[in-house]
Amino acid sequence: MEAFLVTGGNRLEGSVEVPGAKNSVLKLMAAALLAQGKTTITHVPEILDVEIMAELLRRLGADVVYRPLEGELVIDVPEVVGHKADYDLVRRMRASIAVLGPLIARAGVADVALPGGDAIGSRGLDMHIEGLQRMGAEFGSEHGFLIAHAEGGLHGAQIWLDFPSVGATENLVMAAVLAKGTTVIDNAAREPEIVDLCHMLGKMGAHIEGVGSSTLTIHGVESLQPTTHATVADRIVAGTWATMAAITMGDIAIDYAATEHLEIALDKLITAGATVEQTGRGFRVRMERRPKAVDIVTLPYPGFPTDLQPQFIALNAVADGVSMVTENLFEARFRFVNELSRLGANVRTDGHHAFIKGRKRLSGAPVEATDVRAGAGLVMAGLVAEGVTTVLDVHHIDRGYARFTDLLTGLGGKIERVDADALAPA
Ligand code: EPU
Repeated sequence: MEAFLVTGGNRLEGSVEVPGAKNSVLKLMAAALLAQGKTTITHVPEILDVEIMAELLRRLGADVVYRPLEGELVIDVPEVVGHKADYDLVRRMRASIAVLGPLIARAGVADVALPGGDAIGSRGLDMHIEGLQRMGAEFGSEHGFLIAHAEGGLHGAQIWLDFPSVGATENLVMAAVLAKGTTVIDNAAREPEIVDLCHMLGKMGAHIEGVGSSTLTIHGVESLQPTTHATVADRIVAGTWATMAAITMGDIAIDYAATEHLEIALDKLITAGATVEQTGRGFRVRMERRPKAVDIVTLPYPGFPTDLQPQFIALNAVADGVSMVTENLFEARFRFVNELSRLGANVRTDGHHAFIKGRKRLSGAPVEATDVRAGAGLVMAGLVAEGVTTVLDVHHIDRGYARFTDLLTGLGGKIERVDADALAPA
């Protein structure tokens, strides 16, 4: 177990480059299963989840070469793919469920262990299953595995999602591209990562209409071909650096990031008092005074992203004024608030609302990262707290933030990775 020791008080200044998006690359890797042969994915972030997905694809019979330093993955998929995704991998990473659609489409059968995933709510699979059932798949469950069959192949269907679920939209699109006939998914999720997946599938020969809208029409094809594709930039990593600039009253140029994927979040930073300007390479965020409190409400894209909610609670915790943050996606994401309170933050939660009264100062203490974004929020709070904040369970942060301590140090932050077992008992 490793921990971060964060010493507060330094302003962050300089530039960072944003890698490809975690929440895109994992689905692009699953999509590679849809075509026999070598698919190359570039702009791959150097994170633990990519290694877990690579291991899962290997167990399904693919030959995966991952070159983290080059940010490149080559996935060579055999003619016949396996169909079993074991619990030891699915347990470590809920995104493993993204192989469900491709496996049913390619192998006609899938045995996927039921995911546990990170501790941010119930995260059901009902919409994945109901959509695939409409396309002709039959489901059962046994010994902790979800078992799906569609030996005769899937067929097109009309699907209305109750809620624009990211994972369900992705699984259904990946199943529909090889189904017989046309599938229409209404109330589909529209996140940039889904657009990225549809672009890669298009290059592989899929016919998808309405990309980027909430109605996707997919005309199934006989087979797909492997391709080469660059992962879209990680808007959540970009948004995390932007919030770090604001909280430390710093100045960070965030390269290879697209402001159009972060419009609401950047607008909130401007309301908080930051200056955001486009640069030739991305954008730059500067903050010259104590931030002002901002209300936020998380919603599916293009609403405010839940994956930036903890970072904005951290910002509000030291802002001038009171704010209300409403979480509409993951009920347990407020577990992070208890940790933030250990640093002296004044936050009260009631159901899916958090009420925050900004304080001038926080004070360093040991805290636990409860998930990847909570971890980022705690490091941010540590950067402005007096003294040292020890963030435990940093494997969660490593799942989503490549070279995190190096980049933070390069910007002038004081952070050190240590062996948690070697720390003196608190
Ligand atoms: N839901 C259901 N039934 C379903 C599917 C979803 O009830 O069949 C519920 C979930 O329980 C949850 C909500 O709908 O409460 C949102 O789930 P969604 O399917 O949209 O999210 P996801 O695919 O599980 C992805 C990202 C998350 C990100 C969300 C929302 C990946 C690997 N994960 O999750 O990322 O928060 O979309 O944008 O792409 C993170 O990176 O920190 C992270 C958690």
